[in-house]
Amino acid sequence: MPVVSAKRMLTDAATHGYAIGAFNVTNIIQMEAVIEAAAARRAPLIVQTSVTPTKFLRPEVIAAAFRAMAETLPIPACLHLDHCDDVEFCKRCADVGYTNVMYDGSKLEFEENIRLTREVVEYCHGRGDITVEGELGTVSGVEDQVRVAETEAELCDPARSLEFVERSGVDLFAPAIGTAHGVYTTENPKIDFDRFEKIQEIVNGRGIVAPLIVHGGTGLKPEVVKRLVALGGAKFNVSTDLKYALIDAIYEYISTHRNEYNPGKIDVAAKRAVIERVDYWIDLLGCGGRAEGSGAIQPPFQ
Ligand code: 13P
Repeated sequence: MPVVSAKRMLTDAATHGYAIGAFNVTNIIQMEAVIEAAAARRAPLIVQTSVTPTKFLRPEVIAAAFRAMAETLPIPACLHLDHCDDVEFCKRCADVGYTNVMYDGSKLEFEENIRLTREVVEYCHGRGDITVEGELGTVSGVEDQVRVAETEAELCDPARSLEFVERSGVDLFAPAIGTAHGVYTTENPKIDFDRFEKIQEIVNGRGIVAPLIVHGGTGLKPEVVKRLVALGGAKFNVSTDLKYALIDAIYEYISTHRNEYNPGKIDVAAKRAVIERVDYWIDLLGCGGRAEGSGAIQPPFQ
């Protein structure tokens, strides 16, 4: 199945009441693990990279590796650039094979957020089936270069959501609703379900215009995830969870094989640990076995 844009997959998810895992990867082992896990479960997949690892490995290298791994698989897969506040870097990633980019203008004034998000949208749509995610309100915590203190986080104003979506032209919409990047500082983070429901009704109540994205997947309780999926959350971003899985597995392997100098075996242990976590998320999000439906929906433009 070909590499496709995220909008196609997420429209199917939003229409049929499941969500798709969008997994942040920082290296090739993680990328292989999430692709292998999703393929085994016939789950549509979004692989995403934050700006720092993308610059470190180079978008050209990531996109080429992703295509080589994903193209022959029996699942639709998308490569997404996560939280990028640099318009030119968004364009570069779109040029070299990313099928989706997130321009993050959430810290900007409303009008400036719309203006710059729109610039990325026009560029990406002009290049074909490349879709764009935009954010309104701010998600607290740390995600790569994006740092927002809890006290500074500002939730998305439902009344401005449709205006943002329509004027920016985004394909996917990430409203801040109280979820946070990284490990939650409290056991019961305050998630504004009512706000999320209202936004879903305003933006997608008369047909899916821009599927809703939930940031900060790590640490959300299963019942919270399920409720957000039921309310219309179509893409769940998961990053920290996979970083912990990777690093803990490597640490554990090296600690117990201190005299063995075989990097391949460390990779196998790390990969296995990441696959386990992706499996967990596929179960929770209900996207296992959904590969056929999500790849068949036609793109919204072209
Ligand atoms: P977590 O690191 O909390 O899973 O958040 C991931 C995310 O939202 C990436 O955009």
